[in-house]
Amino acid sequence: MDDSPLSMHIANTVAALRHLLRSQAGGLPRVVRPPRPPEPVRVAPPAAVRTPPAPSKAAAPPTPVPRDTLSLPEVDPWPDLDLAGVGGLVAACTRCDLASTRTHTVFGEGALNPPVMFIGEGPGAEEDKAGRPFVGPAGQLLDSMIRAMGLTREACYIANVVKCRPPNNAVPRPDQAGPCMPYLFAQIRRVQPRFIVALGATAAKALFGKPEASVGRLRGRLHQLGDIPLVVTYHPAALLRDPGFKRPTWEDLKLVMARLKTGDE
Ligand code: URA
Repeated sequence: MDDSPLSMHIANTVAALRHLLRSQAGGLPRVVRPPRPPEPVRVAPPAAVRTPPAPSKAAAPPTPVPRDTLSLPEVDPWPDLDLAGVGGLVAACTRCDLASTRTHTVFGEGALNPPVMFIGEGPGAEEDKAGRPFVGPAGQLLDSMIRAMGLTREACYIANVVKCRPPNNAVPRPDQAGPCMPYLFAQIRRVQPRFIVALGATAAKALFGKPEASVGRLRGRLHQLGDIPLVVTYHPAALLRDPGFKRPTWEDLKLVMARLKTGDE
């Protein structure tokens, strides 16, 4: 081999190759890659195993929806009177101007400890004549609603916020509804219903003690008056005017029915 550039290049290349062969034979450590773990074998579980497991007993119970809790007045003004005794007070009542235009007071009627106590607004012309609640067209619709719930009118209790008819079926004013409220609270205490259904805005405003209360905002869920669950829904007269209210009203009544059935109040 001469020392021409080509010979020198060949000699360097050969030396580099020798070095590489030597190092592979044991000189430099070789990077050993760990063997790939075998692919897990995916086996479909048998059908029985794939069905969702039964909910464990430790599963958290559904969170109860908070209810508006209203209280009955702390003091019963007539602790010595039974329901008929309070009815006697109403028959003689002159607390507001409605006393001067009424034919009859309309106290309320029905069973004690009923599944449901319905509370309407006040007597209309037919109720004023008969001295009984909900006997006119709205009353006939209320009767069908009660039957659709699987109940009877006689098994329920029916009352109103005001016990005397407002002339021209006007909505009772606060100075008419207010003085009548002790009678209604006295009825609720003595009737002890399992559920109260407030029919319409007048009943909702009176029971919630809020002039701004509205059925639209309060319906569709449970409230509580003392220890009695309470549902607000539309008045049957509203359903007669606008059948569009029938569906939400039925939803509200189903809420009551479901609770009555399970005893979960
Ligand atoms: N409307 C009511 O609110 N009450 C009745 O008794 C009759 C009609």
